[in-house]
Amino acid sequence: MAQIAWILSAAHLFLALATSGGVGAVDFKSKCLAFKPESHISNVTLNRLEYVTAGTNLAFSDNDASCNRASQVVNIDLCRVALSVPTSQRSGFHYELWLPETWNGRTLATGNGGIDGSFGTNNGHNGTSGTAFYENEDVVIDFSWRALHTSVEVGRKLASLFYDEDIGKSYYIGCSLGGRQGIGNAEKFPEDFDGIVAGAPAVDFNSLYSWRASFFPITGDTTSEDFISPNTWKTTIHEEVLRQCDIIDGVEDGIIEDPILCHVDTQQLLCGFNNTTSTNCLNAAQVKKVQAIFSDYLWPNGTLLYPRVNPGGELLAADGLYSGKAYGPSVDWFKYVILGEPSWNPATYALDDAALAVAKNPADIDTWPSSLGAFQNHGGKIITYHGQQDQQISSLNSVRFWERLAGEVDFDLERMDTFYRFFRIPGMYHCGTGPGAWTVGQGGSAPAYAIPFDKEHNVLAAIVDWVEKGAAPDEIVGTKFVNDSIAAGVMYQHRHCRYPYRSTYSGTGDALDMASWHCVYFGGY
Ligand SMILES: *[C@@H]1O[C@H](CO)[C@@H](O)[C@H](O)[C@H]1NC(C)=O
Ligand SMILES: *[C@@H]1O[C@H](CO)[C@@H](O)[C@H](O)[C@H]1NC(C)=O
Ligand SMILES: *[C@@H]1O[C@H](CO)[C@@H](O)[C@H](O)[C@H]1NC(C)=O
Ligand SMILES: *[C@@H]1O[C@H](CO)[C@@H](O)[C@H](O)[C@H]1NC(C)=O
Ligand SMILES: *[C@@H]1O[C@H](CO)[C@@H](O)[C@H](O)[C@H]1NC(C)=O
Ligand SMILES: *[C@@H]1O[C@H](CO)[C@@H](O)[C@H](O)[C@H]1NC(C)=O
Repeated sequence: MAQIAWILSAAHLFLALATSGGVGAVDFKSKCLAFKPESHISNVTLNRLEYVTAGTNLAFSDNDASCNRASQVVNIDLCRVALSVPTSQRSGFHYELWLPETWNGRTLATGNGGIDGSFGTNNGHNGTSGTAFYENEDVVIDFSWRALHTSVEVGRKLASLFYDEDIGKSYYIGCSLGGRQGIGNAEKFPEDFDGIVAGAPAVDFNSLYSWRASFFPITGDTTSEDFISPNTWKTTIHEEVLRQCDIIDGVEDGIIEDPILCHVDTQQLLCGFNNTTSTNCLNAAQVKKVQAIFSDYLWPNGTLLYPRVNPGGELLAADGLYSGKAYGPSVDWFKYVILGEPSWNPATYALDDAALAVAKNPADIDTWPSSLGAFQNHGGKIITYHGQQDQQISSLNSVRFWERLAGEVDFDLERMDTFYRFFRIPGMYHCGTGPGAWTVGQGGSAPAYAIPFDKEHNVLAAIVDWVEKGAAPDEIVGTKFVNDSIAAGVMYQHRHCRYPYRSTYSGTGDALDMASWHCVYFGGY
């Protein structure tokens, strides 16, 4: 699954971060193997207790194959603890606690993507299917918030016992569903974390899942009349999107710097438009489909249900949301949770289903707070980022969410800046990859390890500095490696601005030199 690429480096864990000091390896190994988590936490089962040395390629043989993450190289000596934790008579979660030999008192938790139970905790069910939700609301509650929150409580208690020290600052990093988990946790349990990195957050979850379900009835299946092939999306349509929008920022580089400014006139895709005889064009029915896909998704009364797609995202959505196949996680969410009808046909999806999803809001999963005041008052900080070419969650929804929170503080930018900073990453797809300078320390794919771990380049380092030194990031420098390969070297770096600033080309100078760009305040949507 596409979600896998961005998963945090340290998959599967509530990781106690290392710095210096510590006991000898032999002592640490015995200390690890003597640990008895099950004697400290009621009803947990110990599944694994292993001393793991630096350099080990750890196989995740317990993970469901659909998680698509078979192994990970561990780069420090640590004590690996795997637990099953019951949450009710009919539910529970599995997770791992990684305790490094040398510890700096910090803890880090992570989350999942899609509707998955693969990383961090298993969110109450294994793998990427939603069948476990069917007729078991406790599993849905674990998925929505309980597995993460409970794992934080269990993890803090066990880490403190293991090291016989107090817990220091507590952090979270995740993307997609994982971004939502971070923000949802700040909403419900404002004291769990001091710092949260929430990438491309799947907030307004029910409406996001409706929006995703809405594409299949528009595209039809691959055999339907006027179906638009993936190749047409990637060539004819993508080229027209770039023709209309690439140059808005003054640089023709295949990257639309700010989708807020790009409103594609889909009529220009119509064969014969402007009396041309081009063969790279669409018929009227196809133009209508593209128009529907590129438009804001609205309720019948005209109010916004979910914002329009990111232009440029069609390069990957061609094989995803627009591919003529119903989007799996949305299908499962409707079948097993919203409707409770395993035989539901996703071709019949309609606005009534979206309204039902909002009305049911299972396990309060929506995550659409108008304020994160309690988290803010606790001193908590959130860094969020979103790829401007995201093919799965519109980055315009993160704009909308910023505006929603800002509305609660009278659009006082200084107040927003004290606890919530949103970085827009041009040319980045969903959580990672893409033509832009997308490596910002979000973890997962290899290039993240090849950038400096400092607040200028790395969102995790930035949240730590913000929480512990009060040094808030104004900009994050993203890195693009040649062919996304570390060995091939850095291609260029780019300055990513916090909302409502816009990365703006100076009009002169090499566009690949970040000195040619500045963050310019524009005030918001
Ligand atoms: C532990 O399990 C027992 C038996 O299922 C149950 O009665 C009890 O409530 C559980 N305790 C906790 C803390 O979950
Ligand atoms: C889920 O995975 C855990 C290991 O992480 C395993 O112990 C458990 O049996 C699995 N549950 C199911 C229902 O497959
Ligand atoms: C339409 O055609 C005119 C005349 O050839 C040309 O100047 C103009 O740029 C065309 N417009 C578009 C949107 O292609
Ligand atoms: C296209 O051709 C028709 C018929 O010749 C003409 O009336 C119309 O103005 C032309 N449109 C454009 C945009 O050039
Ligand atoms: C429009 O409909 C939506 C969905 O039913 C509802 O939430 C919203 O309040 C309505 N807005 C207005 C202005 O009536
Ligand atoms: C990058 O990829 C392209 C296309 O696969 C290839 O032609 C080129 O040699 C690669 N460049 C480097 C430096 O690896």
